[in-house]
Amino acid sequence: MKRTPLVAGNWKMNGGQSLVASMATALAEYQGVADVVVCPPFPYLASAREQLPAAIGLGAQNVSDQAEGAFTGEVAASMLAEAGCGYVIIGHSERRALYAESDAQIADKFAQVQAAGLIPVLCVGETLAEREAGNTDAVVCGQLQAVVDAVGVAAFARAVVAYEPVWAIGTGKTASPEQAQAVHARLRQSLAENDPDIAQSLRLLYGGSVKADNAALLFAQSDIDGGLIGGASLTADSFIAICQAAE
Ligand code: 13P
Repeated sequence: MKRTPLVAGNWKMNGGQSLVASMATALAEYQGVADVVVCPPFPYLASAREQLPAAIGLGAQNVSDQAEGAFTGEVAASMLAEAGCGYVIIGHSERRALYAESDAQIADKFAQVQAAGLIPVLCVGETLAEREAGNTDAVVCGQLQAVVDAVGVAAFARAVVAYEPVWAIGTGKTASPEQAQAVHARLRQSLAENDPDIAQSLRLLYGGSVKADNAALLFAQSDIDGGLIGGASLTADSFIAICQAAE
C-alpha cells in the first residue's frame, strides 16, 4: 500500500512570530508530494493558522489529558481544534522524561485528541541505555501497545506514530537508515498483530537529528513514511529541503 509521506516540524520551545512569518512565506512556494505539518508553541498557533497556506497542516506539541475544567495552565484538545490545529504531538520523549508523563496519561491524551477530531502523533523511542541492553524492540513496542490496549487498535486508523530514539534527538547522532528501518518494521509488525490493515495504512515517521543531507536515505526505507523534525525545522530552507526529500 502506498502511504502519503508526512513531514512535521516540532519547534519545541523555540521560534516566535518572525519564524511563523518566514515559514509561512517559504511554504507558500512548497509543491512537494509530502503532507507538511508545522508545530509551533501554543501562543503562535492561531497566527500560524492565519498565515500558513491552507494545504499546510498545523500541530500542537502537547495537550491536556482532560476535556475541560479547573486545570490551571492546561490546554484542551477542543481549544487546539478551534485554534486551527489538525494534529497534536503526544508522548514526546522530552515530556516523558522531563514531565514524567506515563503511558496511561499519554493514552488519555491520545483519546482526548481524537475526541476533538484531531490526529495524534504518538512518539515512542528508547534511550541509549535501553538500546545497549538490547531492549529497543520491547521498549518501543511496549509504548505503542500501552496506547493500543487503552484506546483500541481501530483508533490507529486516524493516528500517526513517530519513532524517535532518545539518543538521536538533538545530538547530531542520527540512527542509520538500517537501524531506523529495523525498528519501524518491528513497530508495524507489532501493530499488524492487532490489525494488519491498520498497520499497513499507518504512517510511521522517524525523528532524531534528521537534516537535509540525511533525510532522503531515511525516507527511502520501506517502513519510514516521513519525519518529525526538531532543530532543522527552525529555518525554512532546511525544513523545506527535508520536505522535498520525502518524494
Ligand atoms: P532533532 O531533529 O533536533 O534531533 O529533534 C527531533 C525531535 O525530537 C522532534 O520531535
